[in-house]
Amino acid sequence: MKNKQELLQEYTINGLRLRNRIVMAPMTRSRADNPDNAPTDLMAEYYEQRSSAGLIITEGSQISKRAVGYINTPGIYSAAQVEGWKKVTRAVHGKGGKIFLQLWHVGRMSHPDFHNGELPLAPSALNPNSKSFTPLGFKETITPKAMSIYEIKQTIQEYRQGAKNAMAAGFDGVEIHSSNGYLLHQFFNRTSNIRSDEYGGSIENRARILFEVINEIKKEVPENRIGMRLNPSLHGAFGMILDEETIPTFDYIIGRVNDYHLAYLHLSEPFTDVSDVPHAEQHIAQRYRTKYKGTLIINSGFDRIRGNKVIEDGLADLVAFAKLFISNPDLPRRFELEAELAPWDESTFYTPGPKGYTDYPPLRQ
Ligand SMILES: Cc1cc2nc3c(=O)[nH]c(=O)nc-3n(C[C@H](O)[C@H](O)[C@H](O)COP(=O)(O)O)c2cc1C
Repeated sequence: MKNKQELLQEYTINGLRLRNRIVMAPMTRSRADNPDNAPTDLMAEYYEQRSSAGLIITEGSQISKRAVGYINTPGIYSAAQVEGWKKVTRAVHGKGGKIFLQLWHVGRMSHPDFHNGELPLAPSALNPNSKSFTPLGFKETITPKAMSIYEIKQTIQEYRQGAKNAMAAGFDGVEIHSSNGYLLHQFFNRTSNIRSDEYGGSIENRARILFEVINEIKKEVPENRIGMRLNPSLHGAFGMILDEETIPTFDYIIGRVNDYHLAYLHLSEPFTDVSDVPHAEQHIAQRYRTKYKGTLIINSGFDRIRGNKVIEDGLADLVAFAKLFISNPDLPRRFELEAELAPWDESTFYTPGPKGYTDYPPLRQ
């Protein structure tokens, strides 16, 4: 008998057939521990183990040297990195999986130690008062450099080149990381963007860079293979503070994204309890399902039961799971069998080597 769970039904994104509605969410795992920050054989093995997901979204991959903010994260700007990613896409496609690459620029969530002493780039010279994991350990973030118009234009071109490289590496598409307090999110938010030129001030101006990025990426990747990720109610983490214009900014962005035919919009429910936070939206899928016409992926804190329910309720098309995929490489099968789930070990999220990475076993046959 066919399994009736919503999560296990097929889904097609503009002609791209996914074998289920279970998405592996993007997760930085810091295993590109070589001078090129190129994906390794171990990374190919890790993604291959998880290829029964309907869609894998890779860890954030920096689009340039200036885009980095953590040690051992892979890039998508050099020939060696493209070659490394080819191993990953081949492994996943070899198992019938689908995979998008997440394009990443951390902006101010970085440190001069990554940039030969130069300041990280950001919309405005405002310190996120956070921590950066540098080659010399955790350090306090500093006040970044406010980007010049030239640097903004250059960065937009880096997104385009990163997207082009991703297609050369064999990805099915790309996801723009405009979420979680990184560069593009820093532009959206008034507490990180106090510019007075065309990239700051009004809601339209603060969102401008995102649409310029999409328009440039479109020159390299079919529009219906471009996804984007947003975390509207992120508050008190990654340097982000909500204010009365935050949710209206996301309303504007999501309304305008309807003018495109993107692969999907990937949203996160609040990472923390925001019930007491003024101006926060507690129910992201509910608010945006009616506002967005295309494929909607919802994430954060879902399990099998809640994942099936959110689709059944018509609030999302696909559900992205992050931490559960770390410790359950065969998550779709476990959902199918309603099997027990293995717990994840946080101490090995970002450590080198196979421990806590490729050594979580699948269920026995
Ligand atoms: C180890 C780890 C690394 C992560 N790295 C990324 C990343 O590179 N890009 C991103 O958009 N989100 C990243 N996230 C956030 C996850 O994609 C996801 O939004 C979050 O873990 C909540 O989903 P979950 O409750 O299913 O774990 C990361 C999360 C974890 C636990």
